[in-house]
Amino acid sequence: MAGMTGTFVPTYQGLSATDFVRAAPASREACFPFDVPDRLPFYRARNAIYHLFAALVERDRQVTVLAPDYNSGNEILAMQAAGARVQYCPVDRRLQLDPDVVARLCDRHRPDILYVIHYIGWPQPMPALVDLCRRRGMRLVEDCALSLLSEMDGRPLGSFGDWAVFCLYKTLPLPNGALLVQNTARLDALTRLQLRRAGAASVAGRTAELLVQRIRGRAGRIGAALQVVKRGLGRAAGALDVRRANVGDIGFNVAEVDLAMSPVSARLLDRLDFAGIRRRRVENYRRLDAQLDPKVVRVFPDLPEGVCPLFFPILVSDKPAAARALQRRGVDALEFWNDSMDPGSEMSADARFLRAHVLELPIHQDLTPRQLAHVARWVSA
Ligand SMILES: Cc1ncc(COP(=O)(O)O)c(C=O)c1O
Repeated sequence: MAGMTGTFVPTYQGLSATDFVRAAPASREACFPFDVPDRLPFYRARNAIYHLFAALVERDRQVTVLAPDYNSGNEILAMQAAGARVQYCPVDRRLQLDPDVVARLCDRHRPDILYVIHYIGWPQPMPALVDLCRRRGMRLVEDCALSLLSEMDGRPLGSFGDWAVFCLYKTLPLPNGALLVQNTARLDALTRLQLRRAGAASVAGRTAELLVQRIRGRAGRIGAALQVVKRGLGRAAGALDVRRANVGDIGFNVAEVDLAMSPVSARLLDRLDFAGIRRRRVENYRRLDAQLDPKVVRVFPDLPEGVCPLFFPILVSDKPAAARALQRRGVDALEFWNDSMDPGSEMSADARFLRAHVLELPIHQDLTPRQLAHVARWVSA
């Protein structure tokens, strides 16, 4: 809903018609992960995770994974559906793994794989974790679903592990798309994979949503009216019983694991200016940081060089109430990972705290200084 002022600040970037026809920028050439020879595109990241772990299970039969207890749930469900056994390790309130704690849990659980999530663009302590895996003969998987285009010490996230998974449509204006890259080890089962196309309705529906989203962000109420039209189209597709694969939800459906990235995403991908997108995200993060009341509690103390932020995470005491209040002002803040897939004893006190309090503010590449000032004003209020 557009706020009372007509300002609307969407969670994610949208698409504009020119995105389809723009010439590819020269700077795109050497960009990781799109330059890795062994990369496989999928419809979304959970499909990539499923197939990676299914290939590992096929090879080794028993696969134990040590994964963080603060997670979206989708990656855990995908690993479990593939037949892997998941054990949990904690992250602290700055969303960081402690290599000493990881080492102790490796002693206890003897995992084959360490599964690392880089949250919202901020890196985990990779040198120590790479070293830990090497010394113990473990394999390392980097989940970069939230960290496309991010770097640590000049090196891209996703290039440290044996394998890495990226979700493209979270950072880029695409209707769908994910990548699995194989950095050090190539799994035969993955080279034999046969993926199939997603239904036209799900791709067209999401593409239309992104086009409307961008107009809404720019035009407040006009866009809101268009959103109503888009919803009507969506309902019509549903009424025709067209199979639609949703993007951005929580859950795992084994019937959808073989979906490929759509050709429209591949086409758009060829035309994006990755360096420009990263620059805008960094600028927007800094601009919002400068305008937010100092009393607003930031999850991260700073924005290190090389980080491409997905959102601006803050801590709020009552997350649903804060999200509702911002939505009334047209700010689509995202409640980050309220629920755990495994809410038993695995969840540390810090993971419980993060699930209760982390709210994500939009800072994506489409946002203008006026929209960011609007976010700063109402969050500070
Ligand atoms: C850390 C993490 N990994 C994996 C996924 C799965 O991504 P997708 O929604 O593209 O399947 C998500 C999001 O759901 C995520 O946040």
